[in-house]
Amino acid sequence: MILEVKDIHTYYGTSHILFDVSLSVDRGEIVSLLGRNGAGKTTTVRSIMGLTPPESGSVQFHGEEMRGKPPYYIAKKGMGYVPDNRLIFPDLTVRENLMLAIKIPENLDGEPWTVDRIYELFPLLEKLDRNLGGYLSGGEQQMLTVGRTLMGNPDLLLLDEPVEGLAPLVVRDLGEQILKLKDMGETILFSEQNVKFATMVAERAYVIDKGMIRYQGTIEQLREDEEIKQKYLMI
Ligand SMILES: Nc1ncnc2c1ncn2[C@@H]1O[C@H](COP(=O)(O)OP(=O)(O)OP(=O)(O)O)[C@@H](O)[C@H]1O
Ligand SMILES: [Mg+2]
Repeated sequence: MILEVKDIHTYYGTSHILFDVSLSVDRGEIVSLLGRNGAGKTTTVRSIMGLTPPESGSVQFHGEEMRGKPPYYIAKKGMGYVPDNRLIFPDLTVRENLMLAIKIPENLDGEPWTVDRIYELFPLLEKLDRNLGGYLSGGEQQMLTVGRTLMGNPDLLLLDEPVEGLAPLVVRDLGEQILKLKDMGETILFSEQNVKFATMVAERAYVIDKGMIRYQGTIEQLREDEEIKQKYLMI
């Protein structure tokens, strides 16, 4: 198991947001965390990354306890985080945004990511090589954010609502790119509201609602479970 989250409770001030959240991700898996607006997806991802540390429970990454560790430490251990707000450097070019993010962990197994390899995965970015980050469309920015995080050579990629607000064609492209990452053996946990997108790329799903995990299973089981979808995923 690369990631094992057990019974975490997370608060914002005195508001209790996550209740007993548990989930796990195995090497090479693509796992989705599904839930409606305000269900607790971002809080879960931030709890794992150490940005909003849980008050109790455990977050084991490669068998090491991360709860209470600062985000930079968790990042150094190989966790790559793509936040929901696509923060890129608007005044730097696409290439510069990628170059700045190069990090090669000490015990990297396999080929490190390079700008060329990122351009192979996202051909659109190659065409925009010299363009400034600030002028990219939403979909292009999202590809750049994912590419930038990959440049840090993470062994677990956390994506917070990667396709939110993107046009259907761009959603399909990103889905195909995530499937390519899976073929390369990457491990990904992503949060999402879009069940269709999750069905396209994930093998397993967790459903969160009001800060509690309400369902876990394969993505096929979820697709056929009208009750769970009605109850926790439809608007
Ligand atoms: N900084 C904060 N302070 C207090 N409460 C917060 C804060 N951020 C989020 N919350 C509350 O925590 C709950 C979970 O929010 P969270 O952002 O994790 O949901 P989400 O599933 O990511 O939603 P969305 O789909 O809108 O991104 C919500 O009730 C929200 O109002
Ligand atoms: Mg969110």
